[in-house]
Amino acid sequence: MRARATGMPSFAQPSSRTLTGIRAVAFVAALLPLLRLVALGRADALGANPVEFVTRSTGTWTLVMLCVTLSVTPLRQLLGWPWLLRLRRMFGLYAFFYAALHFTAWVWFDQWFDPASMIADVVDRPFVTVGFTAFVLMLPLAATSTRAMMRRLGRHWQELHRLVYAVAVLAVLHFWWHKAGKNDLAEPMIYAAVVAALLGFRALRQLVRRTPADASARQAPLERE
Ligand code: HEM
Repeated sequence: MRARATGMPSFAQPSSRTLTGIRAVAFVAALLPLLRLVALGRADALGANPVEFVTRSTGTWTLVMLCVTLSVTPLRQLLGWPWLLRLRRMFGLYAFFYAALHFTAWVWFDQWFDPASMIADVVDRPFVTVGFTAFVLMLPLAATSTRAMMRRLGRHWQELHRLVYAVAVLAVLHFWWHKAGKNDLAEPMIYAAVVAALLGFRALRQLVRRTPADASARQAPLERE
C-alpha cells in the first residue's frame, strides 16, 4: 500500500524492468529440465534405459508446466498480482513444448516412425490413447496462442482455450493409467489433487460470481482474461 502511495513499484505492480527480469528468470527456469536432459545425454548418464528416462522426464515436465499454467489465474486472484497473467502464455507454450518432445520421443525411439505401429499403440493401450488425445487438444491451443489470433478469435479465443482444462484432466488420467498398471499411484495422486484443486478453485469462483451480491466483481477489469 505504502509503496503504491509513493509511486514505488510493489509486488502487485512491479516496474516493467522488474517484470522483464521475472520473465527472463521464468523462461530460463522452465528450460532447465531440457538442459539437464541434454547434459545427461552428452555425459552418457541417462541410465540403463535412456528412452524411458527421456519419455518419463518430458512427460513429467509437461504435467508440471500444465499445473503451473493453470495456477496463474488462482494465484493472480488470491495474491492480487495481475502481472502474473503476463507469464501464462509462456508457461502454456512450455507445456506444449515438453509435450511435443515427449511425443517425439515416443514417435522416434518407441515407434521408429512406423505409422502402423503408432496407430496400433494408440488403439491398443488406453493410457496412450488418452495421452495422444491430450496432445491433439493442445495443438489448437498452441496454434492460437499469438496476440494476432487472440484478436482474430475475439471471445471465441477464451472459449477455445478452456480446452486446457480437458487437457489437464486427460494428462492426469494418462499418468494415472500408466502407473496403475504398475501399482504405483503415489505420484499420480499428487497431480490429481493439484489439478482438482486448480479446477475446483475456478468452479467455486464461477458459483460465487453467479450470486447477485458478487455481481460487481464481474465488472472488475482484473478478473477478465
Ligand atoms: C498432455 C500430454 C501428455 C502428458 C502430460 C504426458 C505425461 C506422461 C507422464 C507423466 C508419464 C509417466 C512418467 C513416469 O512414468 O514417471 C508418461 C508416460 C508415457 N507417455 Fe505420456 N504424456 C502426454 C502425452 C503423451 C502422448 C501424446 C504419447 C504418445 C502418443 C504418450 C506416451 C507415453 C508413453 C508411451 C509413456 C510410458 C513411458 C515409459 O514408461 O516408458 N504420452 N506420459
